[in-house]
Amino acid sequence: MVYGVAFALGGHRVVAVDIDARAIALLSKGKPTFFEPGLEPALKRALRTKRLSFSGDIAGGVQDAKVAFLCVGTPSRPDGSIDLSYLEAAARTVGEGMRSARDYQVIAVKSTVLPGTTEAIVRPALEKTSGKVAGRDFGLCVNPEFLREGSAVEDARKPDRIVIGALDTRSARALAAVYRGTKCKKLTTDLRTAEMVKYATNAFLATKVSFANELANLCDAFGKLNVDRVVEGMALDPRINPRFLKAGLGFGGSCFPKDVRAIVAAGREHGYESRLLDATLKVNDLQPMRAVDLAERAVGTLEGKRVVILGLSFKGGSDDVRESRAIPLARALIQRGATVVGYDPEAGDAFRAEVPEAEVAPDVRSALAQADVCIVHNDWPQWSELRAAHFAGMRRKTVVDGRRILRREAMKGVELVVLGG
Ligand code: UDX
Repeated sequence: MVYGVAFALGGHRVVAVDIDARAIALLSKGKPTFFEPGLEPALKRALRTKRLSFSGDIAGGVQDAKVAFLCVGTPSRPDGSIDLSYLEAAARTVGEGMRSARDYQVIAVKSTVLPGTTEAIVRPALEKTSGKVAGRDFGLCVNPEFLREGSAVEDARKPDRIVIGALDTRSARALAAVYRGTKCKKLTTDLRTAEMVKYATNAFLATKVSFANELANLCDAFGKLNVDRVVEGMALDPRINPRFLKAGLGFGGSCFPKDVRAIVAAGREHGYESRLLDATLKVNDLQPMRAVDLAERAVGTLEGKRVVILGLSFKGGSDDVRESRAIPLARALIQRGATVVGYDPEAGDAFRAEVPEAEVAPDVRSALAQADVCIVHNDWPQWSELRAAHFAGMRRKTVVDGRRILRREAMKGVELVVLGG
């Protein structure tokens, strides 16, 4: 959806197709199917240009296209491996649309797939139903997306890099034409390298986050050390970029956990045991427990205590609770006998569906009323506006700041425990 909007605003004619009729109906009316800052106005603007339309007729949409992007999900199976059934089904349907196309077309895989998948799964599915041959009759590319939730529209409209993995030069040229107006770093590779770039990027960034989290835990173990100051000092070294070294209660979302698990599982299948990435995941699994430990250290047993989690989405600015560390955090607190109350500006309903045993409050004040402990889990910017008065209704004013986002000077009278603080 985000790329459809971005391409249309960039001057292309776009047909966005899906098997989900409800989504098509909503989107045609300018209503996004999920919360993403700036998406609704951008979608409405794109629709007004008349260059963007939505349709349930996939084959029909593909038939007249110069380029078709495959953007379907590649979710994790319970063992961490990736489920390619949606991608394969979509490629078959796209192939049907290609059958009646007269001109040369390029099919570009935007879904995140392991090295070799486009060749082994997508190519045969397209060839089988289209009756055409990749490289001779149509082009084939891998074009990973690097969108961040919360700034997806901006990331799609003004990317900082474009990676095109191509079967051959003609495919690469045809896909590059789509991005002609986009000024940024561009890299053309073979298909497998582009597939690996996406995993390598996410695995590295996830490892940076786990590194920062481990550093915060070490700082706490030594005491009187602020992890952000330490990172600031590290980043004086021109080889160290401080971005993604912000310690917290772990990484979540639709990409990092899934992609790291997938590359570890695939490595194992290929006979390689990844120790570093395995540790990245282990640190991430344990990190929400740091907040539980800090809370327990402050108030003793959590049995019978009312514990508030501020921020339920996997990061501020999003309503997405997929792999949010607030979920294992809430479950661990409940297991220790606490009553859990959550609050989030956008993710309350989604969280309730994941952890029905937890209460979800409509605002900060009612969440905090009569609470014994408050844990700040994610980084919504509004947490930095909170003052001691907001916590006045708590029974015991103990606050665990898992993101170092609260302003200490505004917290007089509150027992503030800061992770990595
Ligand atoms: C990520 C990648 O950034 C993006 O390029 C890719 O296309 C999809 O996955 P996203 O899942 O939207 O994007 O979130 P991101 O901002 O990367 O954050 C991922 C997780 O790491 C969040 O839970 C976030 O809170 C956490 N994080 C990030 C930290 O804890 N500390 C940091 O310094 C950065």
